[in-house]
Amino acid sequence: MLTFNNKYIIFKDVIFKKDGSLSYRLPKELVNILKVHNSSNKICDIDDEYIKYFKNNSVFVEDDIYYNPFVKIEEANKFRLFIQLTDNCNLNCRHCFQGDKRKKSKSMSFEYIKDLIFEAINLGIYSIDFTGGEIFTLEYIDDLLIFLSNLPVRTSLFTNLAFLSENDLDAIINCSGIDNIITSIDYFDPEKHDIFRGKKGAFKSTIKNIKFLKENDVSILVNTMLLKNNRKDIMKLVKYFEKINIKTRLDTVTIKGNAKKNKDLFFINEISNYIYDIYKDLGYSDQDLYESIINSKCGVGETLLYFDCNGEFQLCPGLTSDYNEKFKIGDTLAEAIQNLNSFRISCKENSCEYHGVCTYGCRERALEYSDSIFGKDFRMCELLNSLYKNMYVL
Ligand SMILES: C[S@@+](CC[C@H](N)C(=O)[O-])C[C@H]1O[C@@H](n2cnc3c(N)ncnc32)[C@H](O)[C@@H]1O
Ligand code: SF4
Ligand code: SF4
Repeated sequence: MLTFNNKYIIFKDVIFKKDGSLSYRLPKELVNILKVHNSSNKICDIDDEYIKYFKNNSVFVEDDIYYNPFVKIEEANKFRLFIQLTDNCNLNCRHCFQGDKRKKSKSMSFEYIKDLIFEAINLGIYSIDFTGGEIFTLEYIDDLLIFLSNLPVRTSLFTNLAFLSENDLDAIINCSGIDNIITSIDYFDPEKHDIFRGKKGAFKSTIKNIKFLKENDVSILVNTMLLKNNRKDIMKLVKYFEKINIKTRLDTVTIKGNAKKNKDLFFINEISNYIYDIYKDLGYSDQDLYESIINSKCGVGETLLYFDCNGEFQLCPGLTSDYNEKFKIGDTLAEAIQNLNSFRISCKENSCEYHGVCTYGCRERALEYSDSIFGKDFRMCELLNSLYKNMYVL
């Protein structure tokens, strides 16, 4: 049977690869023709020239499984659904924000998640990401990746990539919907990483899996925590990953869960100059840094729908009903979308000289340090201050 290649999605008049590597704008008339033929499951009937063109470019393939690439055009297209499948984990990290919650670990059932994904697709959502805990502790995770392959969604997986089975790795490689794998490495020294992550062998296993997946063309991003004693490791890590074409994102620890018990490892405040210096040492120009700051919107209160493993929609993984009942935005997806449309979270320090360029940083940090989700995120303020002090031209 001639069908669409499940590596592609068609959204409005753009056809793109789920991994983001290719996109083409199609003439509207052609999109309509494809839609009509696809809905009657007869894409073979269209003009020979088109068939030839799409076959040559692997957009049409011979397959037994029918694949519908069209994203439903609805208001909800802008949303990103971020699902916490479980809070169970195979590691026990010193900074993990879940802390003791994990002792009574909870997981969503496969059936429940499948229904939620179908509901999201029916509402027009085509960006669905998964996190934990550790998602590869779930029995059904490989089946979920197979299930996702034949749906018009792109997905990012947050996983420590430690101790995965061969089947897990195969499932990742063969899943057509994966946009990015976001994993964690915090030290270049295996022993230090293992102590921080609470399990011997974690470093070796994660690095081996990163390399294996990269060799098999899976896109990887490494999340690294800025810690008091890992500055030298960060330099080596970033360079090591750069050589194999992998980006590293530096992140700061929020002091909650396990991090509260290990405060001496983390910076509490006043680290923006430290962050600035690290980026400089890594060879970033002020302009690069400025662009990475202004392009770093997380979507909280605008496009992010976070569904936690208790079955509740929350503002984000940080701003949950544990802080305030108002941060629970719904019990159902439709309710969450409706509530999010009426939420507007920004920094209300209107007299701030950076207000026009600021993306307002982290609203959980604003809440922690200035008692309001509309307050200033001191780290963002300091970072912009360091930048503007040091830049000649913006
Ligand atoms: C919740 S984990 C889930 C994926 C996986 N278990 C892992 O650690 O990579 C996602 C990311 O959150 C980070 N993280 C955990 N606790 C944190 C905290 N207290 N502050 C900031 N980031 C944290 C982890 O290091 C990881 O990069
Ligand atoms: S940070 Fe990730 S790997 Fe570490 S304990 Fe938490 S969920 Fe597990
Ligand atoms: S977060 Fe800080 S820098 Fe940004 S607008 Fe608010 S006060 Fe200004």
